[in-house]
Amino acid sequence: MSLETTLVRDIAIGRPGATAVFRRHKIDFCCNGAAPLADAAERRGVNLAALVQELENLAAAKGAAPTEPEALIDHILERYHEVHRREFPEAIRMAKRVEAVHREKPACPSGLADHLTLMFEELESHHQKEELMLFPMMRAGGVQMTGLPIQRMMTEHEIVGEQLETLAELTTDFIPPSGACTTWRALYQACQKLDEDLREHMHLENNVLFPQFAPPV
Ligand SMILES: [Fe+2]
Ligand SMILES: [Fe+2]
Repeated sequence: MSLETTLVRDIAIGRPGATAVFRRHKIDFCCNGAAPLADAAERRGVNLAALVQELENLAAAKGAAPTEPEALIDHILERYHEVHRREFPEAIRMAKRVEAVHREKPACPSGLADHLTLMFEELESHHQKEELMLFPMMRAGGVQMTGLPIQRMMTEHEIVGEQLETLAELTTDFIPPSGACTTWRALYQACQKLDEDLREHMHLENNVLFPQFAPPV
């Protein structure tokens, strides 16, 4: 099968480094990953031949996440859940400061602190459902469990995907205005990291972990 007709999510799973390429081109590989590469590229107005070349040039696997469920769950908890818990409060603090100090400027990201706070609160409740219910069921070998808890998590991931679109709009795609102060620049960098981590996190759950328990319909 050629890369052009391969589903975006399968490329993201099978080709280490592909997720970074997709992020750069704003191709959604987590919630809308069930599209062939050619369709996803067209939707984003990306040159398909150049994109295929970029994916083919990726170096061999290095530092890929584990795929075995126990190890993958440990990796998700340590690399994503705990990291989001550390990084969101700091981003919220910076957003409040930037919004207070620069509220007169047209480029001021008004509403960013509130948006980040909403995302963090909803994410925390989502994490708790995974940590207290879903992951323990998986660790106990719950292959025969219904797909409903997984479906619910995937629906919540879609909402996070929409919230990330709003985050990009509020921060003009994470590009601070020229002459922005250090906190403003650090804030947008932190928001971009949150975006990248959340997309990787949801991709690992949607496309690598969950299908081992309830195959996608
Ligand atoms: Fe998670
Ligand atoms: Fe999740």
